[in-house]
Amino acid sequence: GRGMTRHRMVPFRGTLPLVLPGVSAQLTSTRLRRNTSVGTPFWMAPEVIACEQQLDSSYDARCDAWSLGITAIELGDGDPPLADLHPMRALFKIPRNPPPTLQQPELWSSEFNDFINKCLTKDYEKRPTVSSLLQHDFIKQIEGKENVLQRQLMEFIDVHQQMGAVSLYLYVDDLATLEVLDENTVTEQLQKSYAKDQIYTYVGDILIAVNPFRNVDIYSSQHSKLYIGAKRTANPPHIFAVADIGYQSMVTYNSDQCIVISGESGAGKTQSAHLLVQQLTVLGKANNRTLQEKILQVNNLVEAFGNAGTIINDNSSRFGKYLEMKFTCGGTVVGAQISEYLLEKSRVVHQAVGEKNFHIFYYIYAGLAEKKKLAHYKLPEYRPPRYLQNDHFRIVQDFMNNSFYKSQFELIEQCFKVIGFTLEELGSVYSVLAAILNVGNIEFSAVVSEHMIDKSNISNPVALENCASLLCIQADELQEALTSHCVVTRGETIIRPNTVEKATDVRDAMAKALYGRLFSWIVNRINTLLKPDKHLSDDGLNIGILDIFGFENFKKNSFEQLCINIANEQIQFYFNQHVFAWEQNEYLYEGVDARVIEYEDNRPLLDMFLQKPMGLLSLLDEESRFPQATDQTLVEKFEDNLKSKYFWRPKRVDLTFGIYHYAGKVLYNASGFLAKNRDTLPADIVLLLRSSENNLIRQLVTHPLTKTGIAIVVIFLLSFSSLHTDHRDTGHHPRETTSMKTQTVASYFRYSLMDLLSKMVVGQPHFVRCIKPNNDRQANKFDKEKVLVQLRYTGILETARIRRQGYSHRILFANFIKRYYLICYKTNDDPPVSPETCAAILEKAHLDNWVLGKTKVFLKYYHVEQLNLMRKETVDRIILIQAYVRGWLGSRRYKKIKEQREQSAIKIQSAYRGFVARKEYQNAKHNQKIEKYIIRLQASKNCLLSWFLMFYRNKIR
Ligand SMILES: Nc1ncnc2c1ncn2[C@@H]1O[C@H](COP(=O)(O)OP(=O)(O)OP(=O)(O)O)[C@@H](O)[C@H]1O
Ligand SMILES: [Mg+2]
Repeated sequence: GRGMTRHRMVPFRGTLPLVLPGVSAQLTSTRLRRNTSVGTPFWMAPEVIACEQQLDSSYDARCDAWSLGITAIELGDGDPPLADLHPMRALFKIPRNPPPTLQQPELWSSEFNDFINKCLTKDYEKRPTVSSLLQHDFIKQIEGKENVLQRQLMEFIDVHQQMGAVSLYLYVDDLATLEVLDENTVTEQLQKSYAKDQIYTYVGDILIAVNPFRNVDIYSSQHSKLYIGAKRTANPPHIFAVADIGYQSMVTYNSDQCIVISGESGAGKTQSAHLLVQQLTVLGKANNRTLQEKILQVNNLVEAFGNAGTIINDNSSRFGKYLEMKFTCGGTVVGAQISEYLLEKSRVVHQAVGEKNFHIFYYIYAGLAEKKKLAHYKLPEYRPPRYLQNDHFRIVQDFMNNSFYKSQFELIEQCFKVIGFTLEELGSVYSVLAAILNVGNIEFSAVVSEHMIDKSNISNPVALENCASLLCIQADELQEALTSHCVVTRGETIIRPNTVEKATDVRDAMAKALYGRLFSWIVNRINTLLKPDKHLSDDGLNIGILDIFGFENFKKNSFEQLCINIANEQIQFYFNQHVFAWEQNEYLYEGVDARVIEYEDNRPLLDMFLQKPMGLLSLLDEESRFPQATDQTLVEKFEDNLKSKYFWRPKRVDLTFGIYHYAGKVLYNASGFLAKNRDTLPADIVLLLRSSENNLIRQLVTHPLTKTGIAIVVIFLLSFSSLHTDHRDTGHHPRETTSMKTQTVASYFRYSLMDLLSKMVVGQPHFVRCIKPNNDRQANKFDKEKVLVQLRYTGILETARIRRQGYSHRILFANFIKRYYLICYKTNDDPPVSPETCAAILEKAHLDNWVLGKTKVFLKYYHVEQLNLMRKETVDRIILIQAYVRGWLGSRRYKKIKEQREQSAIKIQSAYRGFVARKEYQNAKHNQKIEKYIIRLQASKNCLLSWFLMFYRNKIR
């Protein structure tokens, strides 16, 4: 029944109503025919249909045996035979066809097949009666087990109904099987499914997930079991099925897999990633319970540090995450590894209106308050630290007493412990977080010295003391590092004061760096703790899950958005390659020329960003190395060098440039680009932190970590050689050049993007496209326009477009013939299912440019329009003829019935007169006896009635 919206018979509390009211009521006039269940056309026995047309033939109650057989098939296959035919055509076919059977008889027991066989004996004279069918082996095996079986059946139905698996309706669950794959059809299908809580849909090998914005009960352990090793068509589409396909392919082909989840903010990527990990842990049958628990905690932990509340999503990921689950080649999960990309560090020091800082800050406030440890970590108990102040939180109590934050704190502490962090490490993590909040509270005031140089002073020494104590460094040294910097000019070391503005920048840079490095350290520590044993991982396999930030386009877009969007551009390219290959494979398989396929290749755009030496990122790096460069010179450099139709500069808008991304055009503001790209933490701060007595803090500044956890030597080692240069004084320094080059965010970003891709390309890809049905986070609200836009830019409709350009319709030979044979053949012809038949039909329709594959007819959309038109004309003609014939048959039948009735009336009259006479006689004779009899009859009738009611109530309940 895939592809059709139709009733499916659902056993009712384990019982099944066998009497199907239908045309019998109108047909029957004889005693034998009364109360049979001849039903609707699909259930009608051949003789019933014949009888409808010629009154001299007849039928009896054995037509119910036929209906029973059809019902049995429907229960097995989900549809009665011929269900996809027009009912009138079914009526035509049933008497002519051989008796129907189950679609795949070999899947069923021989008793069941034989039972159906017996029921569906075409010659009703030879067909067994219902009472003799009760003696059939298939029925006999139930004897004595009715209750048990019924209970089992009910349990089965319960399980399925809870899961929504057996719903009354079936939906298209693979959009790729739609013969028409255009914007409207796809959106409508998604909407229909969504209305029935079916949030998942396949498009070929891609899974679309529409965010339900409420809990849907489809992730229980029962569901989990249902999707293990199951055929894709056996269950409704599900994210668990993607996990299963990935896992099975990994084990079968001995190859790495990669699941790419994409979609805009709040579309459900992170949730999907969780569900995948959950199912993969089940599949990986981690017999090691602790390992299983550890893996399940990883996401929660990193998300406490990397996620934050935004206007769009209360739990928005502010970093990209690639989680690899490690398996033995036998498929047992043995470990995990996480890579993080582009944490939005700027959030630590500043949040836009209506947004929040990273979750963990609020968690520790509530958690440490509960444990009376705020003072220990020197966290202010009245005014919230500056970094946490916003409209939501005016006083500390607002988040200190928040019970959700408290419980999250417990949860995160538990995660740390389960994964294997020591208590000492945990304490250090809290210290660093508290230090960051205290750093933010340090305030500066201007001091004008006699030399007229702007100097700054720290106006609140308490915050400074707190911070120094938490970081285990000297307060006066911290003050110095914040308010002055050290330069070397012509061999001489000079200390220069920082202006208030500069000091504030240094302060915030320190907070951001500490947080970013703490995050990397945690990720790295997790990787160490979840690293599989050497002997297990040697020839192991892995499944990577990429939960990357979605495409972003805000009112003001900065460097962060540029990086995020380039990453998405890269993922889109990867997606295109794959979809293109997939499309091409079908053409190849069908032996069809694939040259027609064209698609929007974003390769030139990617080149514009990533090419060396003239790509946008290279230009940015180059400009970042020029001390005199400004954001203005940067934009001019872009304009002069990027000769691409994807780049443009709006006139008269300073510092603004535009990019035509695959997902739409975005205006970027280059203000702050250079500073953000340099992302420098002054060497004085680095040196100071290295003197910390806290192990963790020293580690944070000693071994900057790459995404994969390999320590790389960058500027920090260089700073040891004590060569700090002040650009303004000395200009370009060669050694600075190399170090700067290693350090820029852009080069680091390019490196991580390549690193990510290198991991992804070795694996077989699977795609999950998350769709946000509305902007209000509301359940049951499907904003068609909103969905359409996402479908368009995520490339789902790109696929549709590819299909339209090529052969938009590919129809299986059998389906094609069934639908269009009327154009070329007579109604009662039954042409063979073959390419020749298809060709005959197409030629008769005077169409050209179509192609026959091995199993399918490949058509252009206008072919189908033409064919549908011709089919409609033919059908209209047939209906007209049928109407005439039916009219004629009807009048003939009416005449006959009238004659019969006249005769019957005479017979009934005489019989009735005889009956009345006999009754009067008996009444007189047995008056007393009958009175007694009536009383008895009433008693038993009541009994029968109450039994019936009880039975019926049971059925309903
Ligand atoms: N399968 C689901 N069932 C129920 N609710 C869901 C599901 N998927 C998503 N949600 C809801 O949508 C919210 C946002 O989802 P999620 O955080 O996964 O989005 P995201 O795509 O990761 O966004 P971002 O890019 O901002 O990180 C979740 O917090 C949850 O409330
Ligand atoms: Mg997310």
